[in-house]
Amino acid sequence: MNVERKTEEAILKIGDCEIKLPIITGTEGEKAIDIANLRKATGYVTIDPSFMNTAACYSQITYIDGERGVLRYRGIPIEDLVKLGSFTKVAYLLVNGHLPTPEQSRKFSHLLNINSLLHEDMRHFFDQFPRGAHPMHILSTMINALAAFYPNVDLMSLSEDIDASTARLISIVRTMAAVAYKKSIGEPIVYPRCDLKYCGNFLNMMFDSPVRPYTVRPEIERILNVLFILHADHEQNCSTTAVRTIGSAQVNLYATISAGMSALSGPLHGGANQEVITMLQQIANDGNISKFLQRAKDKNDPFRLMGFGHRVYKTYDPRARIIKHECEELFTQLNIEDPLLQVAREVEQAALTDEYFIERNLYPNIDFYSGLVYHAIGIPENMFTVMFALARLPGWIAHWKEMIGTHTRIVRPRQLYIGNAKSEL
Ligand code: CMC
Repeated sequence: MNVERKTEEAILKIGDCEIKLPIITGTEGEKAIDIANLRKATGYVTIDPSFMNTAACYSQITYIDGERGVLRYRGIPIEDLVKLGSFTKVAYLLVNGHLPTPEQSRKFSHLLNINSLLHEDMRHFFDQFPRGAHPMHILSTMINALAAFYPNVDLMSLSEDIDASTARLISIVRTMAAVAYKKSIGEPIVYPRCDLKYCGNFLNMMFDSPVRPYTVRPEIERILNVLFILHADHEQNCSTTAVRTIGSAQVNLYATISAGMSALSGPLHGGANQEVITMLQQIANDGNISKFLQRAKDKNDPFRLMGFGHRVYKTYDPRARIIKHECEELFTQLNIEDPLLQVAREVEQAALTDEYFIERNLYPNIDFYSGLVYHAIGIPENMFTVMFALARLPGWIAHWKEMIGTHTRIVRPRQLYIGNAKSEL
């Protein structure tokens, strides 16, 4: 990746010594101080736990302006991409850097179709998990197992035939997710169909049954595409950083994606969408919103207002704004009356006018309203984070491909040792 180096420099003074550090400017004018050679020149490292201020890589995939609430994939605003209504086209865009031509689209659909079947021998694995196992745990294990079923995939062939690898992963993981769900409720699994598109196929595999045939409703298929597009990438979030870190050791793609999946399952990351619904139900049962806000503000109470706050957005998350609108529309179209939507509106209103949340720029994030949509279209709560994971797959693959393509060295941060000094036995 060619990075234009401008002549601007920062000067760091340590004692009597002055060091010049190059300043690099991003496409949108963001500035970064390049410290890659600092230790070599001075013996000093920089310290930044949790990466509050560290750009860990150069990237051409996604741009976020957290102060203005901007999100773009490959330069295209998220608001325009949702109008496309096709998650698979956006997946192609993220991985390849451009939207597919009609011919590329046709080929990609074909790849999705032929890669949608799960290896029959893998079906038996699902029987070994305990009935109540969380689908995220099942899925991350099963993705890791793919390496055993496709042992011939090496890094170079994967990155050269990236369309086939992307199609295999996003198609087969979707099938696995539906199988994990069917197993968890003791119903026969439903095979993918070649006449259905990506999201419609997923809905059918989840909800069709020999005794209760399912018809995919276009409104539901559309909103699922929208939700998946909004979740498809979010630059260097925790799971993507896990993917880049693990991938930098040249681990196979499946193990790498499985690591991303595990990172996503945490309640501070993708697991938050499930927590939001649990929280809204608690608030609805209790009826006292201010009590919950009080708890969220109390530093001695581990409770947080789930679906609120973000490391990057210091304004309303643009994805949350779209989902809130889509959620309201869907409920009207399908005549759904879910009291939790009203609770969510009231919690949002109360938090956005509360000093604590105002001072800290805490706004609803993507997870605040997405769970309500999943709830409305019949997705069980323990599958919410799986939905996030399915949608995030193209982002992980795009970052993995970019990382492999730039010949990044193995990720290996330094530390500042503050333990015991050398001592006697
Ligand atoms: N409820 C109450 N207080 C909060 C919340 C919240 N949801 N979020 C942040 N704060 C407070 C936090 O206590 C801290 O206060 P103080 O400055 O007095 O110590 C301040 O706001 C800054 O928070 P932080 O934890 O330092 O911020 P962070 O950037 O490390 O964490 C976050 C970001 C998303 C983990 C956090 O806001 C959070 O825990 N939110 C709830 C979980 C959630 O909704 N997660 C989904 C994130 S979006 C989807 C995704 O990326 O996966």
